[in-house]
Amino acid sequence: MDINCCAPTCQKPAKMRCPICIKNGIMPNSHYCSQECFASFFSVHKLVHNGISPSNGVSSKFNNFKFTGPLRPGVVSPMAKVPDHIKKPDYAVSGIPVSERNWDESVIPKFESEDDLKKLRAVALIGRKALDLGHSLVKPGVTTDAINNAIHDFIISQDAYPSPLNYRGFMKSICSSVNEVICHGIPDSRPLEEGDIVNIDVSVFKDGFHTDLNETFPVGKIDAESQRLISATYKSLEEAIKICKPGVMYRRVGDRIGEVITPEGFSIVRTYCGHGVGQLFHGPPNVSHYPRSKDVGIMQKGHVFTIEPMINAGVFSDLTWPDEWTSVTKDGKRSAQFEHTLLITDDGVEVLTKRLESSPPLSL
Ligand code: MF3
Ligand code: CO
Repeated sequence: MDINCCAPTCQKPAKMRCPICIKNGIMPNSHYCSQECFASFFSVHKLVHNGISPSNGVSSKFNNFKFTGPLRPGVVSPMAKVPDHIKKPDYAVSGIPVSERNWDESVIPKFESEDDLKKLRAVALIGRKALDLGHSLVKPGVTTDAINNAIHDFIISQDAYPSPLNYRGFMKSICSSVNEVICHGIPDSRPLEEGDIVNIDVSVFKDGFHTDLNETFPVGKIDAESQRLISATYKSLEEAIKICKPGVMYRRVGDRIGEVITPEGFSIVRTYCGHGVGQLFHGPPNVSHYPRSKDVGIMQKGHVFTIEPMINAGVFSDLTWPDEWTSVTKDGKRSAQFEHTLLITDDGVEVLTKRLESSPPLSL
């Protein structure tokens, strides 16, 4: 049987194969009629070299993967470019956050100068406006890729950098986590569906500082249990923020979240925690969201960190998809999250990423 050229619009007899596929022993059917046809299709074909099938665009790593719930990955579009004039974090080219790796875990930075606080407030405001823009786009039929692109363009328009982009190789500018996804969902071609819940997580870098926030939104009308999950998660973050002030142990945050969540019958994710944020995207302190954690450290004026509880309708345990990012619940039940960046002040806490008059209202 003759083999035909596999370029989409060509059916001529095949005469050659991609040399990279031959070398790597992959894609035995990637035959082409000519060097010209191969070259014209190469921009799409080369995706298979990274384990992405051009027929459906979903990584072949998912072949035979046992999903925990109903959600399936869509197609991830190519990585965005950031204009040269925008100041980038140290990992933007290499993917490796060198300054995070070299940071002394036991040192929590303090931000006290008016100049630092001004920059932190400004970057937090860009993050807030970017999240509100994303929120305004959430409706059935809209893809998380489209939401990613709108937020990316807005952040760039503010001469800022979307912190997730190429952080440890992450390929998008936001995380979008649908239904049973706990966190680190990769924006893709899947249209949001009526009844979904979606978390949008925005982090922005400008003038040397990162800030970080997220919210979970209903898509159209959702079931009562999902609504209760979102409302309890929001309340747990609000209550945890209320205890923050100088002298309070970081481990009290998880204790307080437990007091809100446990009576609701929901569970608290243990694998992912709040974190220091500022000149690093992720640094000390570690802020667990569950009770009786072993977290060390005491809140002091000038500390900047996130609280970002991930709350599950079923079991607390998580598992990561073969894309090496998407974290899902082990039982496939839903998960919700809210996050703020906080600054410890003289006698309390300032919510740097606080909602604005103009923020679209949450349905709680
Ligand atoms: N924004 C997330 C957080 O709240 C971290 C995302 S890391 C990424 O900490 F690489 F996935 F972007
Ligand atoms: Co965070």
